Amino acid sequence: MNQKSFFLKRQNEPGKIFFKGFPGFCLVAFLAMFFLFPSCKKDDDPGADELIAALGLEALPTVSDPADNAATQAKVALGRPLFWDPIIGGEKDVACATCHHPNHGYSDGLDLAIGVNGTGLGPARTENTGGLSLSKLIDRVPRNSPSVLNAAYNGMTSLGSYSPENALMFWDGRMKSLESQCQGPPTSRSEMRGDAYPEAVTFDSVVARLAAIPEYVSLFDAAFGGGAAAVTTANYAKAIGAFERTIVTDNSPYDQYLNGDKNALTERQKKGLLLFFGKANCTNCHNGPMLSDFNFHALGVPDNPANPNVTDDGKDHLYLFRTPTLRNATLTGPYMHNGMLSTLREVVEFENNGVSKNPNVLSGMVDLNFKPLGLTSDEIDDIVLFLESLTDNDFDKSIPASVPSGLEVGGNIH
Ligand code: HEC
Ligand code: HEC
Repeated sequence: MNQKSFFLKRQNEPGKIFFKGFPGFCLVAFLAMFFLFPSCKKDDDPGADELIAALGLEALPTVSDPADNAATQAKVALGRPLFWDPIIGGEKDVACATCHHPNHGYSDGLDLAIGVNGTGLGPARTENTGGLSLSKLIDRVPRNSPSVLNAAYNGMTSLGSYSPENALMFWDGRMKSLESQCQGPPTSRSEMRGDAYPEAVTFDSVVARLAAIPEYVSLFDAAFGGGAAAVTTANYAKAIGAFERTIVTDNSPYDQYLNGDKNALTERQKKGLLLFFGKANCTNCHNGPMLSDFNFHALGVPDNPANPNVTDDGKDHLYLFRTPTLRNATLTGPYMHNGMLSTLREVVEFENNGVSKNPNVLSGMVDLNFKPLGLTSDEIDDIVLFLESLTDNDFDKSIPASVPSGLEVGGNIH
């Protein structure tokens, strides 16, 4: 048992409170628990474990690499500084980590992301109105930043198989694989590019910048060979992909439970689990080890009034958005494609109501599996408690002390 799961179990242990400054009672409580616990447990828990076992749920498998990008230490050692270095941003003020920061579950805690010309980290990040010599003000990014934690598993089927080459990325699935995804943000004016160079020459410019920094040349050479010729867009993408495949969490209480530790979930979490996969039918869309079908559904989340595009009509202009993973959701609020729901309880209430809250999403457009569920307030609480069991906080939170460009680590986030 690792330290984290040990701690979680201590928190859930009912007898623990007696150990705080009441030693006399402590012994009695201990003996009572020792003799009564096995039989009590059976009465309190009429077959939840058996019912869950019958669902045949699967924990996360180990990560697979694309055929042409087997992970190596040297690729990860390059991908990590690339992820943290604002040299990738046109105005040199935004890095990938600006919006995907370990302090915020590799997301940013904002409803809509703030890229170029922003200051600060997480929910405290704000747009600057002056500062850089931009030809005009830069809009906010029109979407909520998903976490990069476990993005390595995107596209996983309900049976746990996936192809890293075809892994769906973004709320509308418009890109596939981590390697192609990481070539998007540097070209986007509001996310990373600003007005430093035209979009069409983004990667010529980024590669030229990297090739001019000796430390990057040696990192690229160590990872791919060929000296300065190794500094290419394709190798940039492979290194970032390899790094992102190390940012994985697969040991949540839910995984521990599925891997055999029947005490890793509390009784209420087990109830929530059974509701999630039963009465509440969340599993129609949130299924498989990632708790997502990686498919697209219209729920009618209200538009975010701060969205510079006014309305976000999603995939195929039908207000379809990808079912997000529910793993680590406690760390990655606010929720939905535009951050319009602040808490997990609000999300479960919204899903329980099963009614579009967006006037552009008429009832006929709404997914047939999004419908009123009739959950009680206690049942909603149990589901929220279950969702909390999907968090594994034991991931790489390390922040490099410096990046090869010498710029501010993580961009303008201080
Ligand atoms: C300004 C904030 C911002 C920056 C900078 C940024 N991202 Fe993102 N990232 C987002 C947003 C917002 C989305 C969702 C966009 C969408 O769905 O249209 C996203 C999506 C992603 C996804 C897809 C996750 C999923 O499950 O769909 C990955 C992976 C990712 N970003 C990695 C990166 C990398 C690598 C970089 C640096 C090259 C980067 N991001 C830079 C905000 C940002
Ligand atoms: C019809 C498919 C469907 C069903 C059924 C469904 N969801 Fe979702 N869920 C989605 C989609 C799609 C989104 C994203 C919607 C958006 O951004 O517009 C989502 C978003 C969420 C989120 C926010 C995650 C994040 O990171 O933003 C949570 C939490 C969630 N669902 C939990 C549940 C629970 C609990 C249930 C059952 C009570 C449920 N869902 C039922 C499709 C579904």
